Amino acid sequence: MNTKANWLGITLKNPILLAPLTLISHKRIEEHVNYYERASKSGVGAIIVESLVPIEYGKSDISFTQNDLLPIESGLSKNQFMSFALLGAPYPNILSIKYGISLIKEICKQVTEVPIIGSLIGNFGEEHDVIAAAEMMAKAGIKGLELNFSCPNIMALCGEEEKDKINLIYRHTPSLSLVKSIKKHTGLGIALKLIPGCMPSSLDSNIFRYIDGITYSNAHLGIVPPSIESPPFGSPFKRGFNWSYSGIYGPFERLLTYEVLVKIKKDPIYKDTKLSIVGGLVEEKHIVESLLLGTDTVQISSAILWKGFKFVSSAVAFLEAFMQKNGFASLDDFRGQSLNYIDSCATNLKEYEYCGAEKPHNQLQTVTITSKCIKCYKCLGMCCLALYQDENNTVRVKKDLCSGCGWCQIICPVEAIVRES
Ligand SMILES: Cc1cc2nc3c(=O)[nH]c(=O)nc-3n(C[C@H](O)[C@H](O)[C@H](O)COP(=O)(O)O)c2cc1C
Ligand code: SF4
Ligand code: SF4
Repeated sequence: MNTKANWLGITLKNPILLAPLTLISHKRIEEHVNYYERASKSGVGAIIVESLVPIEYGKSDISFTQNDLLPIESGLSKNQFMSFALLGAPYPNILSIKYGISLIKEICKQVTEVPIIGSLIGNFGEEHDVIAAAEMMAKAGIKGLELNFSCPNIMALCGEEEKDKINLIYRHTPSLSLVKSIKKHTGLGIALKLIPGCMPSSLDSNIFRYIDGITYSNAHLGIVPPSIESPPFGSPFKRGFNWSYSGIYGPFERLLTYEVLVKIKKDPIYKDTKLSIVGGLVEEKHIVESLLLGTDTVQISSAILWKGFKFVSSAVAFLEAFMQKNGFASLDDFRGQSLNYIDSCATNLKEYEYCGAEKPHNQLQTVTITSKCIKCYKCLGMCCLALYQDENNTVRVKKDLCSGCGWCQIICPVEAIVRES
């Protein structure tokens, strides 16, 4: 069985990439490199190093720590993780160019088991700064480059009010000249990391001649709900803004990630575009689902914070077991297979239309209540007109009102409700 995948022209032992993940706490370069050494032993197909900012900006002193910083692989409980995922990480240490290049040099020297891919913030700094940074990264030894146009923190920082204050140059999407120059000067395989709001159709189509793949999606910027305690109902944070810095990531993102993946895979224009997806893939089976929906590679990020590097080996084992069980010799044997069952949202929804507007009612399935019923009446608590209690307190179904939606089956604690044609 062969789990090999190709990304940015590099052959990987499997399609699971460590997503760029700016460490929340680290002190010295040795500790930083050590993290990547451990990552390389986890079984990942490739490592994408956390993003570099192409200029000296912000806290270039990476000894910056805070008492409440969360350690990497913190072994957070599920509940802790959920609040972390919703409210964002504490301010991460953005890597400015000088420290970033020395870090990449060390990583490429010491971590040799898996390909090292660099990540560079593309929407920040003058174009020539970004090109120069990419060149330095290539010289430092990276095997491919992800140009990051998806960082929620940069987007929040570069919001209209902030932009003037800190005089940032901000571009939302890459220009053709930027991508072309980076390709010319580095010769590396290039992926663009984009947010779902920036679909390929919004880019200059010539850009596709110079890139080797697209990475969707990322941690989205969320709005933290306003405080409703007292006027003027502003931000609940003392810092004064509602943007959720560090975005919203983890399990909340997965369905959105799949939506973007399917949209692109279904569009014949992009049939040859290689895709990597990231966002919400936090269980082993999510890797298989993503491949079935047509991605070339997957990236994991929150799962590492939440479950540690051991998640990678169990995800690889799960993928292998899935392939073995179904007799797949390579990823190509099943990649994209599930796309055949997603015609379009509209076609799928027709199947579920209330009371079967598209089909004669007698062709629809309904449900029936069996003798397993324990009369807990949970099903009657739902807003369904088809269910009622007869004079003997038995639950009955009015077949002509039942659309066969199946919600009562989900709610019934003892599987007393079954389908009938
Ligand atoms: C603490 C933290 C730091 C991150 N740093 C980066 C980064 O440097 N570059 C980048 O492209 N994405 C970064 N991301 C985004 C991840 O690569 C990933 O796209 C996002 O977390 C969604 O995936 P997930 O749901 O698996 O977490 C970071 C995410 C987290 C949680
Ligand atoms: S939820 Fe199930 S067990 Fe409870 S009343 Fe309805 S059919 Fe009976
Ligand atoms: S299948 Fe749907 S419509 Fe029919 S009884 Fe159950 S909840 Fe009501």
